[in-house]
Amino acid sequence: TRIFVPIDSTALSLDAEEVAEALAQGLQRKGAQAEIVRNGSRGLFWLEPLVEVETPAGRVGYGPVTPADVPGLLAANFLEGGEHPLRLGLVEEIPYLKRQQRLTFARCGIVDPLSLSDYEAHGGYRGLAKALTLEPAAIVEAVTVSGLRGRGGAGFPTGIKWKTVLGAASDQKYIVCNADEGDSGTFADRLLLEGDPFVLIEGMTIAGVAVGATQGFVYIRSEYPHSFRTFKQAVQIARDEGKLGRRILGSPHDFDIEVRLGAGAYICGEETSLLESLEGKRGVIRFKPPLPALQGLFGKPTVVNNLITLATVPFILSEGAETYRDFGMGRSRGTLPVQLAGNVKYGGLVELAFGVTLDTLINDFGGGTRSGRPLRAVQIGGPLGAYLPVSLLGLPMDYEALAAKRGMLGHGGMVLFDDSVDMARQARFAMEFCALESCGKCTPCRIGSTRGVEVLDRIIAGRDPDKQTALLRDLCEVMTDGSLCALGGLTPLPVLSALEHFPEDFKRPVPAAA
Ligand code: NAI
Ligand code: SF4
Repeated sequence: TRIFVPIDSTALSLDAEEVAEALAQGLQRKGAQAEIVRNGSRGLFWLEPLVEVETPAGRVGYGPVTPADVPGLLAANFLEGGEHPLRLGLVEEIPYLKRQQRLTFARCGIVDPLSLSDYEAHGGYRGLAKALTLEPAAIVEAVTVSGLRGRGGAGFPTGIKWKTVLGAASDQKYIVCNADEGDSGTFADRLLLEGDPFVLIEGMTIAGVAVGATQGFVYIRSEYPHSFRTFKQAVQIARDEGKLGRRILGSPHDFDIEVRLGAGAYICGEETSLLESLEGKRGVIRFKPPLPALQGLFGKPTVVNNLITLATVPFILSEGAETYRDFGMGRSRGTLPVQLAGNVKYGGLVELAFGVTLDTLINDFGGGTRSGRPLRAVQIGGPLGAYLPVSLLGLPMDYEALAAKRGMLGHGGMVLFDDSVDMARQARFAMEFCALESCGKCTPCRIGSTRGVEVLDRIIAGRDPDKQTALLRDLCEVMTDGSLCALGGLTPLPVLSALEHFPEDFKRPVPAAA
């Protein structure tokens, strides 16, 4: 019998390690023949640690399991999927999971993250095998036809980016994976790094073969020590098994990966700062053009893609570009792994085709707020994303539909707030975040965000609200039009959305005259 106990950061923070130890000891005492596999998380966080037992009918789940529950589970014959108050039935049948369309996350939480044979048994390396039968231009064409767009947030067509790099003549090209997942409420990159790292290795290798790059870099944020460790181990295993290095899979192609750890700066998630940081310099924005696709890492043509973008490529190659493209709506093709966080009842990862309504995600999957109080606002797309009121939750999950309402999907993070939220303070938080994380290169962002905090402080104190609100709008206009990158340029998005959708929070009582 195989028992699965997640080793993912979320589960670990909820005592999964102690649960695994208690299980190991209990099994030994019983003399039971069972193997404990440390899998990734399925992304159903309110059930973590979710312990699964392999039975002839499928994997039966129990959760959330504490170390103190272990003796009771063993007594309840859970090795055969026996009854117990924590028993959830077949994991695949849990509606939260069953109703998803997991393409990119198909293996996450199922496989042993560091078992290459498990990865291959679940369809791994079929995409690369297919890619190796194609001309580079045909691989790029498949990615273009799939409609895949950058999942970091900007939504730029991946095939077009790759085509630019393929067409650039150079003695050296690079593939850079952006795993500096800094958006509030996001964890999709982390789940994959810890739950299915080989899919990223395969995706990056396909990218390398497609554009003619022999070296890849993965830039992981410093806040993800478990991801860093797991991914580095996976790279070494892949190298030992001939999946990385010289003449991969017996082909004429060389490709290898280096793993780098960031130092805790949000701005290093912006591609040009990330490249500076990779080169060993301070993470400051570079002017564009030149595009990284033409002059990126060490001045060489470079594909910089978000982790989810690269991890989606193996599916596209193995299952066909049309299969992927058939999911979705409009110009948003395929699926998006949405991350539900904040004041949410059922937080976790939901991968679904574009077109599903925000309401379905937030209320049907998320179950509304954890506090049980009425939902008031949802911030979508990270700290630079708009705050949407409940009246806009009928919108479909689609890049263009959100942009039409001055919102953005970003990296798919959705953070819920109940009616106790103060939206003027949230607007202040956006400005303060920008002031703290600004790289300092341009004035509208470096100085503007600090002035923005001051203006919002005056609004919150009820001092001269009309004049201050007009000033705030002016300042936002300057930041939007004059900032060099998305940090300064998009900070007005949450600020103005709060002002537009929740104007009552900006009308503060005027202080009594001294
Ligand atoms: P951008 O729109 O300037 O560029 C998007 C991507 O397309 C870049 O990689 C760029 O180099 C590439 N590109 C543009 N034209 C190209 C061409 N002709 N050929 C090849 N490549 C081309 O957006 P930017 O500034 O890179 O990112 C802004 C977005 O990042 C925002 O929309 C925001 O949603 C997102 N974001 C994500 C964060 C996260 O933590 N995931 C944090 C902050 C922002
Ligand atoms: Fe740096 Fe802010 Fe200007 Fe971006 S907008 S370049 S983070 S100062």
